[in-house]
Amino acid sequence: MKTRITELFGIEHPIIQGGMHMVGYAEMASAVSNAGGLGIITGLTQGTPENLTKEIARCREMTDKPFGVNLTFLPAVTPPDYPGFVKAIIESGVKAVETAGNNPQKWMPALKEAGIKVIHKCTSVRHSLKAEAIGCDAVSVDGFECGGHPGEDDVPNFILLPRAAEELKIPFVASGGMADGRSLVAALALGAEGMNMGTRFMATKEAPIHQNVKDALVAASELDTRLIMRPLRNTERVLNNAGVERLLEKERTLGDKITFADIAPEVAGVYPAIMKKGEMDAGGWSCGMVAGLIHDTPTVKELIDRIMAEADAIITQRLARLAGARVAA
Ligand SMILES: Cc1cc2nc3c(=O)[nH]c(=O)nc-3n(C[C@H](O)[C@H](O)[C@H](O)COP(=O)(O)O)c2cc1C
Repeated sequence: MKTRITELFGIEHPIIQGGMHMVGYAEMASAVSNAGGLGIITGLTQGTPENLTKEIARCREMTDKPFGVNLTFLPAVTPPDYPGFVKAIIESGVKAVETAGNNPQKWMPALKEAGIKVIHKCTSVRHSLKAEAIGCDAVSVDGFECGGHPGEDDVPNFILLPRAAEELKIPFVASGGMADGRSLVAALALGAEGMNMGTRFMATKEAPIHQNVKDALVAASELDTRLIMRPLRNTERVLNNAGVERLLEKERTLGDKITFADIAPEVAGVYPAIMKKGEMDAGGWSCGMVAGLIHDTPTVKELIDRIMAEADAIITQRLARLAGARVAA
C-alpha cells in the first residue's frame, strides 16, 4: 500500500510503532522495520546520548530498513540532555524522528539541516497545525483512546481524525486505539495516511518486556484502563492495577491539593518493575483502551502481515461489495 507516509519514510506498509518508554529498544524497532513498518527507538529510555548512539548502532545490525528515534520533550525541572540526544541522532545518520510532548520548534533547524523527516505526535488539531507551521513533515494524531498521554481535550479519534483532515496539508497517521486491519481501513477512511500503534506492539513475541505484561494485555478488556494525574494536568492512560487504585484513591482524597510527591510511589520507578520484573501491581504504566482488541501474542511480522491482509480484504471485498450494491441498485 502506498500513501504519503510510506513515501515519506521509505517504508512498505503505512504502520508506525510509536516510541514507548522501556519497550522501544532495538529489538522492538528492528522487528517492526524488518516487517515493513517504521520501528522507533525511544531516545530517553537510553538515559544518555552515548547509550542512544550505541542503541542505534545495535538496531542497524538487526535491520537494514529505515527506523526512527522518538524524542519526548518533557516539562522537567532538570531536563534531559536534549542537545546531546539530537546530536547523537544526527551523527548516527537516522533519517526519521518522532517528537512528542512539548513543541519541537527549537530543534527543527538542526533536524531539517540533517535531512531528517520529523513526525510530531499531538493530541489536538491546534497542536497539529502548529507542527505543520514549524515545518514538521507529518503528524501522528493521538486520540483520547491512546495509551500514554492523551492531553486534556478528550477528543476521540472518530472526531479528531476527520477534523485533522479538514485542516492539515501535511500527511498524518492515526494514533490511539489502532490494532488491526479494521483500524487501518477506518483510519484511511477518516483521512489519515497510515496508523501508529503503541500498546498493540507490546503484545508481540519480539517486544523486549516481561511475559507478564503481554499476558496482562491479552487478558485485559477495553474497560480496564484508567486516567491518572488528571488533577496535575498531566493525564496518562494506564492499565488498572492495585498501585493505580491506590493512586486514584489519593486523587479522590486530596483533590486539587495533590502534588506529584503524593503519588510518586505509584508512578516513579514503575517502568523497570513492570517491564523488567513483571510486577504487575507496581503502579501506572501507559496502556491504551485497545487492550480490549488484543487477543494474542504473534510475531511482529505475523501481526503486520495480518493487518495488511485484513485491510486489503475489507477494501477489496466487504467495502467493494457494499459500493457495488449501491451502484447496482
Ligand atoms: C508502555 C508505553 C510507553 C509509552 N511511552 C512513550 C514515550 O516515552 N514517548 C512517547 O512519545 N509516547 C509514548 N507512548 C505512546 C505511544 O507512542 C503511542 O502514541 C500510543 O501508545 C498510541 O496509542 P495506543 O497505545 O492505543 O496504540 C507510550 C505508550 C505505551 C503503551
